[in-house]
Amino acid sequence: MVSSDRSNHNVPTMPKSSTQFHRNKPSLSFSLSLSDGCLFLGGAFSALLIVWGFSSFTTPILTDNPNLGSVTTKITDAPATSSSGPDLRFDPPDRTFYDDPEMGYTIEKKVRNWDKKRQEWLKHHPSFAAGAKERIMMVTGSQPKPCENPIGDHLLLRLFKNKVDYCRRHGYDIYYNNALLHPKMFDCWAKYPLVKAAMLAHPEAEWIYWVDSDALFTDMDFKLPLERYKDHNLVVHGWPHAIYEERSWTGLNAGVFLIRNCQWSLDFMEVWASMGPQTPNYKKWGQTLQSTFKDKVSPDSDDQTALAYLMVIEKDKWGDRIYVESEYFFEGYWKVIVPTFENVSKRYDEMEREARELRRKHAEKVSEKYGELREEFVRDAGRLKRPFITHFVGCRPCNGDHNPIYSADACQNGMLRALNFADNQVLRPYGFMHPDLGDNGVTPVPSH
Ligand SMILES: *[C@@H]1O[C@H](CO)[C@@H](O)[C@H](O)[C@H]1NC(C)=O
Repeated sequence: MVSSDRSNHNVPTMPKSSTQFHRNKPSLSFSLSLSDGCLFLGGAFSALLIVWGFSSFTTPILTDNPNLGSVTTKITDAPATSSSGPDLRFDPPDRTFYDDPEMGYTIEKKVRNWDKKRQEWLKHHPSFAAGAKERIMMVTGSQPKPCENPIGDHLLLRLFKNKVDYCRRHGYDIYYNNALLHPKMFDCWAKYPLVKAAMLAHPEAEWIYWVDSDALFTDMDFKLPLERYKDHNLVVHGWPHAIYEERSWTGLNAGVFLIRNCQWSLDFMEVWASMGPQTPNYKKWGQTLQSTFKDKVSPDSDDQTALAYLMVIEKDKWGDRIYVESEYFFEGYWKVIVPTFENVSKRYDEMEREARELRRKHAEKVSEKYGELREEFVRDAGRLKRPFITHFVGCRPCNGDHNPIYSADACQNGMLRALNFADNQVLRPYGFMHPDLGDNGVTPVPSH
């Protein structure tokens, strides 16, 4: 496994993970047409096909007539809605938490007995039962206004596309929000009202997966090892020693986290968010956090240090349910990762030359199978394993107000390389690739 060296995160004055909701500066942040060879053949052929179709619901129609394109076509009579998937039209009149007039979504509104309420909803919606224990809903977002950085909105679009790609390949739902749900909870604090609302809107989801807008998936195949987190409710990237012993505010990163949709999480977020700018104690919390975490430069209370604070000061209360992931790039610092893309790509090319099964062309829908296969080959590749998530902390792609310790070019070029590195994995089942990570152009994938 890759050990993502924490020293790389420990950058002085590093702005924390940004969700790019900005304070006081309103605009300153950041018919399927089937081919002739397939189903619609026209004229006499279609009549013939229908006849064949009736007699071969399970037997593929095989033909080598060149007009039919030598395709194998299997006609099935499956109903439009499959009986095995979730039923999106079924909501029985039985009373659930949604019918409680007291129920509310805002951060101030207390939710009680959530675990039982969720269970009841699931009981009334049995078609969601399959997979309910590990269903993941991704939530991300950005500010309500256009970006100030001239290419900021383009970067946000590509960063969002990357998340959509990852979700599509793994069958996850995704919600992108760009409304500020609580007028005073700006910037890094904006995600908590959103995560809470997402929990209530998605009782079918076991996990809410928050991913900052400036983080992207650079291993499209890797899946979260949920089994490892089965006794935990919150998963963050970090280093326990740096949090508990060194008391460093960069001992973890709050820009990407997995949080279980349960009462514990609602309670925890309530305490966590109570250090935010919507409370009268915001200023005081800033001082408390700074005196507890001496390396914290900014005097403002931020969600990342607030999380570290709760882990250290209220360890007995919360600590055993928080998993600090250090074994792989749950999220990784871009400065360390970006220079490795070329060597990683080379390693994967070599591997595919050795392992024929990895080179087999396949439908995007079954890419998880090849991902699993590939995982076996790269498990011990160390730094040559694709990093799961690359996080452009400090770059602020939307408002362009990047940390002065980086150049705008380093941020922008790094991001384009990371986006193209990820997109190469996405484009592969479509038959194309970016031969040069620094260039958006594509060529067909060469045959091996
Ligand atoms: C990439 O591999 C080459 C050759 O093994 C090595 O010299 C170079 O340092 C590597 N680059 C990085 C960024 O790891």
